[in-house]
Amino acid sequence: MKTRITELLGIEYPIVQGGMQNVGYAELAAAVSNAGGLGIITGLTQPTPEDLAKEIARCQDMTDKPFGVNLTILPTIKPVPYEEYAQAIVESGVKIVETAGSNPEPFLPMFGDNDIKVVHKCTSVRHALKAQRIGVHAASVDGFECAGHPGEDDVPNLVLLPAAAAQLDIPMLASGGIGTGAQMAACMALGADGINMGTRFMATKEAPIHDNIKRAVMEASELDTELLFRPLKNTARVYSNEVAKEVRGIEKEAGNDIKFEMIQDLVAGTRGKVALDEGDINYGVWTSGMVQGLIHNNPSCHDLIQEIVNDCRSAIRERMRPLMED
Ligand SMILES: Cc1cc2nc3c(=O)[nH]c(=O)nc-3n(C[C@H](O)[C@H](O)[C@H](O)COP(=O)(O)O)c2cc1C
Repeated sequence: MKTRITELLGIEYPIVQGGMQNVGYAELAAAVSNAGGLGIITGLTQPTPEDLAKEIARCQDMTDKPFGVNLTILPTIKPVPYEEYAQAIVESGVKIVETAGSNPEPFLPMFGDNDIKVVHKCTSVRHALKAQRIGVHAASVDGFECAGHPGEDDVPNLVLLPAAAAQLDIPMLASGGIGTGAQMAACMALGADGINMGTRFMATKEAPIHDNIKRAVMEASELDTELLFRPLKNTARVYSNEVAKEVRGIEKEAGNDIKFEMIQDLVAGTRGKVALDEGDINYGVWTSGMVQGLIHNNPSCHDLIQEIVNDCRSAIRERMRPLMED
């Protein structure tokens, strides 16, 4: 499959595995890249920039295909040495970075000088246009359906993608709510040059998380997510478990008087990590998107990508081509 995204990133299929905190380790990134997509290591999952350098080296041992590193610039409980993480990426020789969260502009000269392609995650047309203006190479446009941070505009991809495609000149990845080949075909019809998926890749053989989490994703419906931190204007879509519901309860009760300190212990990333690693699904807050309602199996990344590519082609052949006839 040839699109502006496959050309830009040097990959076989325009299918990207987005950065995932506590999931995006070398095993998963290498499996996706070896299957012809683009795997992404999540930078801040590594406790220090030195650990990130080692993780990148591990991934380089597992694949000779291109892979990327995600750098998420968001408010965190502990301050993060972003410059040093960026430096570790540059020194490792990785040539693709997925940025997310705040404006990546301060890092662009450093990445540009080292021939690194930057894909920026955006949740609105205005953010995508700003990213294009400052010089990123592609926009990954994340609709309201997505796992993680959908922003505060609440525009789903059926509207967001064509709205962004109408104004962007750089290649665009469709992200959020995607897990099937028919959805991929739909995204391409709406103007995307490829797709980015998070939740779908959690339920794969190579995702280095506990089987209980994969089972929870496979059994959950599209209704089983919660939007946390809305009153703090830092919305996150997470799996609807006991902790997430407790946080929602506190937020509702506090109303406009909500302070992060009131929920900080419940939403600590360390608790979410324990849930993912040890399989106690109610131990902490962990991210999952509405697309979980469409996920019912746990294939290898290779089989998943082949299935998506085949189903995308069948959807075009069987659902769309007949529309060409009078
Ligand atoms: C468990 C999990 C952790 C995530 N962590 C991050 C992250 O650290 N940085 C980031 O930019 N996106 C993160 N995301 C968002 C994904 O990269 C991707 O944009 C999103 O999952 C797309 O929506 P989907 O899950 O419906 O496919 C995460 C998603 C999941 C499922």
